[in-house]
Amino acid sequence: VNHLLGIKYLNKKDIELIFETADHFKEVINRSIKKVPTLRDTTIANIFFENSTRTKLSFELAEKRLSADVINFSASQSSVKKGETLIDTVNNILSMKVDMVIMRHPNPGAGIFLSKHVNASIINAGDGAHEHPTQALLDSYSIREKLEGVEGKNVVIVGDILHSRVALSNIFALKLQGAKVKVCGPKTLIPKHIESLGVEVETDLVKALEWCDVANMLRVQNERMDISYFPSTREYTQQFGINRKLLDSLNKEIVIMHPGPINRGVEITSDVADSDQSIILEQVENGVAIRMAVIYLLASKIK
Ligand code: CP
Repeated sequence: VNHLLGIKYLNKKDIELIFETADHFKEVINRSIKKVPTLRDTTIANIFFENSTRTKLSFELAEKRLSADVINFSASQSSVKKGETLIDTVNNILSMKVDMVIMRHPNPGAGIFLSKHVNASIINAGDGAHEHPTQALLDSYSIREKLEGVEGKNVVIVGDILHSRVALSNIFALKLQGAKVKVCGPKTLIPKHIESLGVEVETDLVKALEWCDVANMLRVQNERMDISYFPSTREYTQQFGINRKLLDSLNKEIVIMHPGPINRGVEITSDVADSDQSIILEQVENGVAIRMAVIYLLASKIK
């Protein structure tokens, strides 16, 4: 397979290989060797049809640290605005001798669709509410680093599970590695039949936090929300937001994660997000090494 379209298509060994490769790149970066010549003959296009800060910048940094040539495409400043289709857009970019495409798109399955119609390696950088595989990889990698492994750990994913590609990819990745997973949030924001993925549903946040080693707090995705299904922001924060007082009332110290961007004061207060219990910025740091690993491993298959 020359694509990374979702965690659903990986197995445990694939994840282990990505992590071992990321360990190598992280060690290289930590030795202040910020650039390796590995992908000097590879050209990569980052095409983003949706906004991004972390994913876009860390892919670009990962590509540059591997010495790839990089072009960036943002739909809002492109001929997509004149009606050009996705396939035409990508084929035009590929005709400039591009080897790999990193794509974020609002439609679930956009990466899978593209992989069937163009001749290039595709990495899914988030497709609607479907998957965000590199986010899940960097999340598991950060748990592995902080807790010396993922197997047997109790992880709760809190919040807007229904609209979250981060939740779905994390569930696949964590289950593959032998973690126990619960989801916690308002019933209206939890997909029906999610138990079929091997996760438990908990609607009481305190119980979920008492059970877990790690809480991954998700952003309420107002931009994808059917407003009639949503509790008010105040109600959401009261029932599913975490704050210092709540964490101090638990009988143990848990690890706090968030994929970003944060709605400060909604799903998480600043005194938690910025505390020693939070590994939010470590997640972002690890995103570069993980993306270097994924790009490197795919590029070595297409050469
Ligand atoms: N976590 C994440 O995907 O952030 P961005 O939307 O800023 O890329």
